[in-house]
Amino acid sequence: MPSDQTPKNELRFLDVSVETIIESARVIKAGGLVAFPTETVYGLGGDATNDAAVAAIFETKGRPTFNPLIVHTLDAGQAALIAEFDARAQQLATQFWPGPLTMVLKRRADSPLSLLVSAGLDTVAVRVPDHPVASRLLFEAGVPLAAPSANKSGTISPTAALHVATHFRDGDGLDILLDGGSCTMGIESTIVDLSTDDAVLLRPGAIAREAIEAVIGPLADPTDDGIKAPGMLKSHYAPSIPLRINVTPEERLKGEAYLTFGPDAPKRAALNLSIKGDLKEAAANLFAMLYALDQPGIRGIAVMKIPAEGLGLAINDRLERAAAPRDETPPKDRP
Ligand code: TXA
Ligand code: MG
Repeated sequence: MPSDQTPKNELRFLDVSVETIIESARVIKAGGLVAFPTETVYGLGGDATNDAAVAAIFETKGRPTFNPLIVHTLDAGQAALIAEFDARAQQLATQFWPGPLTMVLKRRADSPLSLLVSAGLDTVAVRVPDHPVASRLLFEAGVPLAAPSANKSGTISPTAALHVATHFRDGDGLDILLDGGSCTMGIESTIVDLSTDDAVLLRPGAIAREAIEAVIGPLADPTDDGIKAPGMLKSHYAPSIPLRINVTPEERLKGEAYLTFGPDAPKRAALNLSIKGDLKEAAANLFAMLYALDQPGIRGIAVMKIPAEGLGLAINDRLERAAAPRDETPPKDRP
């Protein structure tokens, strides 16, 4: 709950400073919600040990409640208090934390986490972010933070504070938005499920599949049964206007904005994800450019083919979902 002085629907949009981080930690300890930057995307954070705060995250985000949340910790030591680490998890933590790797692990029996954070599963998704503001906030709050991306469920992920503000203009349950600039990676963490003997790549992301396989061996692909991450729903990351992928310059329709990639792209295109043809730069620009092109006067967004290698896998994964047919129901009312 917001503090006594703060009416529920008044969003405080604050620049990062030691004082505003400490104030944010105070709000979190009181059960409130704070949007904060990480190296991947902005998170919508609350105390992961507080049922009411976790419920408020689901409500504010408009997320289907059966989908569990990622829990962020200050370091691997704090993560070890909530989840069981086997040898694979330890190796990956050593190699990639802090950083954009999320591991789905068995919850510890004595884990202080809210049950709601795992949405009834006996596992928990955990990661240690690599961002000075996120780290300081975790340090000051002293509790793990449950934090999905700070956007309404199903829409484009936010890589700048202004993107977050477009979703929560009137507060809408969000108490503080900490402006820590643009996210350097710009695409969500890679999620690996280590809760069974076969490690499964649940979501391609900012760390390439091959980099993880180099440490723990081959990753399996998810099967259709079991929990589906919202990021694994067919329609997700969607702008409000239509989006088409793998569009050549000839196929582009009149009135469509053209989002291109690489040095050979037509110069008159709306925006280029990376003129150099650098997939890392393209990943960092992806969501920000989709926000920029998602305007009422534009008929749709046509995206040029992006190479399906390295970070291109995560980019194509997000674009395929953004292009997928959408439900009739608005994201907030989806099951
Ligand atoms: O980069 C990121 O991962 C960002 C930043 C804020 O850290 N967070 C993020 O969270 O993308 P979110 O909630 O939008 O996506 C987390 C994904 C969801 O698709 C969720 O279903 C999945 O992780 N997930 C969480 N807990 C899980 C579990 N126990 N088993 C399987 N999937 C899980
Ligand atoms: Mg998300």
